[in-house]
Parts: sequence; structure tokens; C-alpha cells
Amino acid sequence: MLICTVLNIYPLEKFQIEWLRGDKSIHKEEPDVKTFHDQVQNYSSVFNYTPSVDDLEKNISCKATLNLNSQTRTTTAEYGPGHITVSSNNTSVNLGERLEITCHADGNPKPTILWRKLGETQPEVQSQNHKLIINNASWSQAGFYQCNASNGVGSQQMKIKVMVVGPPNIPKIQLSHTEEPKEGESVSIVCSSEGRSAELTLYRRSQIIVTGDLNESAVRLNISSIQITDAGIYTCEAKNSFGIKRSTINITVQAAHDIWSKPDLPVAILPAVGSVSLLTAAVLLIRRCRKKAKSDSSNISLD
Ligand SMILES: *[C@@H]1O[C@H](CO)[C@@H](O)[C@H](O)[C@H]1NC(C)=O
Ligand SMILES: *[C@@H]1O[C@H](CO)[C@@H](O)[C@H](O)[C@H]1NC(C)=O
Ligand SMILES: *[C@@H]1O[C@H](CO)[C@@H](O)[C@H](O)[C@H]1NC(C)=O
Ligand SMILES: *[C@@H]1O[C@H](CO)[C@@H](O)[C@H](O)[C@H]1NC(C)=O
Ligand SMILES: *[C@@H]1O[C@H](CO)[C@@H](O)[C@H](O)[C@H]1NC(C)=O
Ligand SMILES: *[C@@H]1O[C@H](CO)[C@@H](O)[C@H](O)[C@H]1NC(C)=O
Ligand SMILES: *[C@@H]1O[C@H](CO)[C@@H](O)[C@H](O)[C@H]1NC(C)=O
Ligand SMILES: *[C@@H]1O[C@H](CO)[C@@H](O)[C@H](O)[C@H]1NC(C)=O
Repeated sequence: MLICTVLNIYPLEKFQIEWLRGDKSIHKEEPDVKTFHDQVQNYSSVFNYTPSVDDLEKNISCKATLNLNSQTRTTTAEYGPGHITVSSNNTSVNLGERLEITCHADGNPKPTILWRKLGETQPEVQSQNHKLIINNASWSQAGFYQCNASNGVGSQQMKIKVMVVGPPNIPKIQLSHTEEPKEGESVSIVCSSEGRSAELTLYRRSQIIVTGDLNESAVRLNISSIQITDAGIYTCEAKNSFGIKRSTINITVQAAHDIWSKPDLPVAILPAVGSVSLLTAAVLLIRRCRKKAKSDSSNISLD
């Protein structure tokens, strides 16, 4: 709402007031006959003004005319930033790319536009010609920004959200054991990703083992009794619409040896045995042992 007041008018019946946007007339008004008095009077014109985008750079003025001698006076109305617009409220920018958001506000005198990032101790951000400019978007530039339009009359703010989007972080793949697990042990393999949302998948030899949805920050494979055949390369993959990142782990499994295949046990006992029959039995036993040991591909020496 704008008010234009003209003081000390006489005679009021010859008075006329006109509102202009730039140099275009938008509203004309003449005082009501009932308000006429035969004396010097004041007159106020109230104008409900709803700015449109076309008006942004134009001044609103009020022109007072006294038709006695065609005496006119024009006054430019001063008003605070009333209507603030931004080119985008809610926007996302790809990592490393450029983003520009323009903020406009009407008002007279023309408002000064300042952009700042909310929640920062160093509040001013790069801003030229009403624009918020992000040249090389980084993750830390995501957040809320505020455009503050102010002039001598007042100030107005508008908040916008900037999202930075990009490929996921490199995921982590970990084995529950810090040492090489032994055959038969219970282990788990965890594939996890921090930060941005990504779909996690755990693979082995290009076969999907476990997959999570976008909400899950980790997927897990539990193996209650690990076997030698479970050894190998496992891949953890993090994927979103902007890219894929992978990590791998080479899992080796330690074989749990049969006690008889241990080479030093029968060899150490032999020389202490005196009897020939016992020795024969022992040799037989060793032969069997050797066979068994061979099948396990362990080295055994009988000499
Ligand atoms: C016009 O307004 C001025 C300033 O507000 C005031 O001093 C004056 O008395 C007013 N005149 C009339 C006729 O109301
Ligand atoms: C609007 O008014 C201000 C001061 O009142 C003036 O400096 C400026 O030039 C005017 N702008 C236009 C577009 O008329
Ligand atoms: C921004 O949000 C405001 C209200 O919060 C709304 O009036 C305006 O239309 C929005 N602008 C855009 C470009 O989405
Ligand atoms: C963008 O920012 C990244 C990280 O800060 C930097 O490594 C890269 O060189 C920058 N690129 C340009 C074109 O400035
Ligand atoms: C907007 O800017 C004006 C002028 O610099 C300042 O007085 C006002 O506190 C600012 N408002 C906000 C919310 O930052
Ligand atoms: C993600 O979690 C939210 C709430 O926590 C839920 O509403 C949404 O359905 C989940 N999305 C998926 C893909 O599971
Ligand atoms: C794996 O084991 C953990 C605890 O050891 C349990 O919380 C989790 O639910 C198990 N996951 C699956 C897929 O069985
Ligand atoms: C995995 O580790 C084992 C033992 O260190 C090694 O023999 C094997 O070549 C590795 N596999 C790959 C694909 O690197």
C-alpha cells in the first residue's frame, strides 16, 4: 500500500492526483465533492499496489496537479522492498558445475541485494548484479542461502535451498576378522558408504550376493562357517544416478589341517620303537599317513 499526501491545497476542487509506474499512468483520482471546504486543505491518496515482475526496475510516482494554472508537482514514492523474487527456490547443481540464482526486489530507492549462506560464520557469499554465483560446486556449498533486499525504507528476505548432487563416495568393504579367517569360522563382510545416498551391492565373481536400497548405508553378508571355496575377491559397489564407485577385498581362508597330516608327529615317535612287528605296523601306519598327507598336498618326510 502506498500513500501520497499533498499538503496545503486550495481550491481542492481543482486538484487531481495521478499514480505512475515509470511514465505510464496506472491510477487517477479526484477528491470527492463532499470533502470540499473553502479553505486550504491536505489530501492523501491511498493506492493498493501489487507489483508485478515487469515493474521491478520502474519507479512508482505520484503526480499532483492543481488545474488553476496547470501547476504540477511530481513526487517519487519511496517504499521498502515489497516483492522479492528469485529465479529458483529449490535447486540442485552437479558437483563441479556452475549455478546462478538471481534475486530481484522492487522498492524505491532500488534495493541493495545481498546473498548470504545461512548457518555460516562468514556470511557474505559471492554475489554480482543480484546473482548468487557458485562456480565450481563443492559438497560444502550445499545448504540454505538467503537473499536480503534492503533500502532505506526497509528490508525483505527470501530463503532458497541449494543441493549439490554427484556420484557416491568410494564405499568401504571390510571383513569382520582382522586376521585371515580359518575354515569353519563365522565371518561377515560389510559393504558401507557414507554421505550421499547410494544403492549398495556386494558382488563376488560378478554375481550379486546382497543388495540394499537407497536408504541403507551398509549391506552385510554373514557366513556362519567359512570354507576355502568362499575365498576370493569381493566387490562393494555404490551407485546412484550420477555414478558408480567400487572397492574390493581379497579374502583368503586358512585351511584347518587334519592332525594326522602334521609331518613331525609320526616321524618323531619312530626311532624310539624297538620291536620289528611294531615297526612294521608303524611303517604301515606311516604309509597310510603319507597317502592321506599327499591328498592334502602337505609335505611329509620319511627319511
Ligand atoms: C496538513 O498537514 C500538516 C502536517 O501534517 C498539518 O500541520 C496541517 O494542520 C494540516 N492542515 C489541515 C488543513 O489539516
Ligand atoms: C527512481 O527513483 C530514484 C530516486 O527517487 C532515482 O534515483 C532513479 O533514477 C529512479 N529510477 C527510474 C527508473 O526512474
Ligand atoms: C519460491 O517460493 C515462494 C514462496 O515461498 C513462491 O511464492 C515462489 O513462487 C517460488 N518461486 C519459484 C521460482 O519456485
Ligand atoms: C573445482 O574444485 C575442485 C575441488 O576443490 C578442484 O580440485 C578443481 O580443480 C576445481 N575446478 C576448477 C575448474 O576450478
Ligand atoms: C538485511 O540487510 C540489511 C542492510 O544491510 C540489514 O540491516 C538487515 O539486518 C539484513 N537482514 C537480515 C535478516 O540479514
Ligand atoms: C527410505 O526411508 C523412508 C523413511 O525413513 C521411507 O519412507 C522410504 O520409503 C524409504 N525408501 C526406500 C526406497 O526404502
Ligand atoms: C548378520 O549378523 C549380524 C550380527 O552379527 C546381524 O545383526 C545381521 O542381521 C545379520 N545379517 C544377516 C543378513 O543375516
Ligand atoms: C588374493 O590373495 C591371495 C593370497 O595372498 C593371492 O594368492 C591371490 O592371487 C590374490 N588374488 C587376487 C585376484 O589378487
